[in-house]
Amino acid sequence: MKTIIEPFRIKSVEPIRMTERPERTKLLEEAGLNLFLLNADDVIIDLLTDSGTSSMSAMQWAAIMKGDESYAGSRSYHEFEQEVRNLTGFEFVIPVHQGRAAEKILFTVLDRPNSPNSANAVYLGNTHFDTTRANIEFTGAKAFDLPIPEGLVPAKRHPFKGNIDLVRLEAGLKEHSDNVRAVILTVTNNSGGGQPVSMANIRAASELAKSHGVLFVLDSCRFAENAYFIQQREPGFADKSVFEIAQEMFSYADATTMSAKKDGLANIGGFLALNNSELAMASRNLLILTEGFPTYGGLAGRDLEAVAQGLREVVDEDYLRYRVRSVEYLADKLEGGEVPLILPAGGHAVYLDAGGFLPHIPPSQFPGQVLANELYLHGGVRGVEIGSVMFGKTDETGAHVGPPMELVRLAIPRRVYTQSHVDFVAEVVLEVFARREELRGLEMTYQAPYLRHFTARFRSI
Ligand code: F0G
Repeated sequence: MKTIIEPFRIKSVEPIRMTERPERTKLLEEAGLNLFLLNADDVIIDLLTDSGTSSMSAMQWAAIMKGDESYAGSRSYHEFEQEVRNLTGFEFVIPVHQGRAAEKILFTVLDRPNSPNSANAVYLGNTHFDTTRANIEFTGAKAFDLPIPEGLVPAKRHPFKGNIDLVRLEAGLKEHSDNVRAVILTVTNNSGGGQPVSMANIRAASELAKSHGVLFVLDSCRFAENAYFIQQREPGFADKSVFEIAQEMFSYADATTMSAKKDGLANIGGFLALNNSELAMASRNLLILTEGFPTYGGLAGRDLEAVAQGLREVVDEDYLRYRVRSVEYLADKLEGGEVPLILPAGGHAVYLDAGGFLPHIPPSQFPGQVLANELYLHGGVRGVEIGSVMFGKTDETGAHVGPPMELVRLAIPRRVYTQSHVDFVAEVVLEVFARREELRGLEMTYQAPYLRHFTARFRSI
């Protein structure tokens, strides 16, 4: 059969509150024209993120009932540790409440504040996610994004648009020599369009990092989607299982930071896993200060159970086929209407090219935010801006410096929405596209020093 169906039945539902444009206009005004500041009940289709928004399976809910809530040495921790070890091959498995806690711990232990070169510390990656970059910059280090050139051209198709540029990586490793704290590959590359990284690229980046004595880290939030793309697209992997491919991906890394809120199919949780015992000890010491004892790390035993079961389910290939196809289905509909977007579709989201959608609005007037807001006003659909609001800065002269792309991400929560929900989203985007010339820019009236997109407020120009 050509139709790929959701490989699950729905057992429990959550009602959606319907709203109309006048109410949404008032609500968005009150939220300072920032979609993060809306109440979720005021959103019809919530595509803000695929993080922590998955529907859990009956098996996960069952696993939750056997959560062992002991402070130290809980059975649920051992179950979790075993599952993460099987998948990643790493010896030391450190649970955390979510991905950024793993980042905070890892970058703090890699920071050497008393070394003479600490001010020159750098990290090199394909594209650092916002929390990754913020946690790096918080230690005083710099994060350089080195995507392949194709990764920066939305309409250009490439099977592995998430790859790191190996020539620039090698040059960066030479230029910064002793000061590179780690090379980080984000799979899939979220800020670059949810695009996969090939096994060949992972292997080559790992070899380069090792030859310079630098730690090689995978940010593995969406490892299963990445492994599925490798199976489908990279020569030599068609006959391997997604689980085997994932194991091979991890085998090239020295450490991984993982937000189990994505491909862990859990609503909370994550881990840092690694092989170096000294780094593991330093990480655990810090974990005790910030997250909790090493056998629960900011999570309840039941959460550890949900993640362990989620990691087993996410490599199911019927699930992944449905997952990747349901995102591609939305992209196909939009591409059919000539809406500018990143092609091919990402693993977890469709990324609208707001720069191409609204060419009359300059980056300094936040075209991505304008577009995201209009999708909400028009149809109650909430996406997220990934552009000048999230990554833009003002230089010494007061001029706006934007990132290479102005995007709006429509992230699809796992196992949550049906095909008719996705049809509705496509209709909303196409209708907004038809009247795009009417849209006007925004001015930012408040911003916080870090991760400003979460709390910024705006005014229409
Ligand atoms: N790394 C990547 C690639 C991510 O996408 C995220 C989170 C994190 C790290 C941090 O994980 O949220 O569990 O602390 N991404 C979410 C998103 C928030 O919407 O893409 P976290």
